[in-house]
Amino acid sequence: MKERYDSLRSQGLEWNPPTLETANLPRCTMDGRPTIMLSANNYLNLTSHPKVIEAMIEATRKYGAGSGSVRAIAGTMDIHLEAEQKVAEFKGVEASLIYSAGYTANVGLIPTLVQGKQDVIISDELNHGSIIDGVRLTKAQRAVYGHNDMGALEAVLKEHSEADRKLVITDGVFSMDGDIAPLAEISALAEEYGAMVYVDDCHGEGVLGDGGAGIVDHFKLQGKVDFEIGSFSKALGVQGGIVAGSEDVRTHALNHSRSWLLSGSQPPGVAAAQKAAVEVLMSEPEHHARLWENTNYFRDELQSLGFDTGLSQTPIIPVMCGESPNAKALSQALADEGVMAGAITFPMVAREKARVRTQMSAGLSRDDLNEVLRIFEKVGPGLGLI
Ligand SMILES: Cc1ncc(COP(=O)(O)O)c(C=O)c1O
Repeated sequence: MKERYDSLRSQGLEWNPPTLETANLPRCTMDGRPTIMLSANNYLNLTSHPKVIEAMIEATRKYGAGSGSVRAIAGTMDIHLEAEQKVAEFKGVEASLIYSAGYTANVGLIPTLVQGKQDVIISDELNHGSIIDGVRLTKAQRAVYGHNDMGALEAVLKEHSEADRKLVITDGVFSMDGDIAPLAEISALAEEYGAMVYVDDCHGEGVLGDGGAGIVDHFKLQGKVDFEIGSFSKALGVQGGIVAGSEDVRTHALNHSRSWLLSGSQPPGVAAAQKAAVEVLMSEPEHHARLWENTNYFRDELQSLGFDTGLSQTPIIPVMCGESPNAKALSQALADEGVMAGAITFPMVAREKARVRTQMSAGLSRDDLNEVLRIFEKVGPGLGLI
């Protein structure tokens, strides 16, 4: 262990997470310093919405801190079912099932959808690690297509046209670049070649679509996507994973996902907060509108300063830096000025595509954004970025 850790350290690849001493708000305290937060997935600032907090406290008083069992045996409470019904209503689907995390939804569900070598999983090269882990748990054939490359996807579908079951998996919003999967084309190709479609919309939920209903609503593909995966730990501000789809999908997932069957159910306070977060999203559209105002303003302003924001189409806005040391230097320069925006470097992204990833939230004020932009303008030239 020591050797491996030393080797990580010598390459500058070890994690050394900073510590928050306040809620994860746009203005927070991190490692003892006042900080403007640009690295949170808390797109709508629901982590600290009074209705969400109150729901968690009330449910904890009523039901206790834990559920006392796994969902399948004696750990399903009415509040879990109410949260699932609320998600289904919000997403306009028949049913949903809530897992302990988006991660466990992917590693639990993917292996249930294929059986062996006669099947194939077809995956975008930039899909999230939890999808990769889920695929590794299967014995199906695997094929990877170039990022968002529909010609490459069609070629793979053709090559595997004899496969029994074909499952195409894509992220909805890609978390490193902030670009959106061309789901309409993916779904059309899948239909033509008889494949199932699985979209991981963890960064699209609460962000894309009318009122934040997600990528399926963004492209108006209702009924054309078999499995929609989501997370409560991002725009929804709580924690937990979602599978949304037909009633058959829910029943199947519930009966076969080992990560769901073999793990204790979510604390009732979490379930109540999940339900409250979806209710807030449905009844207070101003948070979603504000997120997009901030996103469009900040991206436009960064670009007019001369920064390269890569492929960003969403509140994930990378500032492209070239080689890893440049990204680390920019992140450090921002940190010195009180701005948290993490460097994403090799091996998380290609060697020459290191970046600082910024993420917008509804709670950032125009003054906050202008202050951050002034700092970018100040540190950019010294690093040769503008
Ligand atoms: C695309 C994607 N899928 C899944 C996950 C995992 O979600 P969770 O944090 O709920 O485990 C993440 C979060 O890191 C993600 O970005």
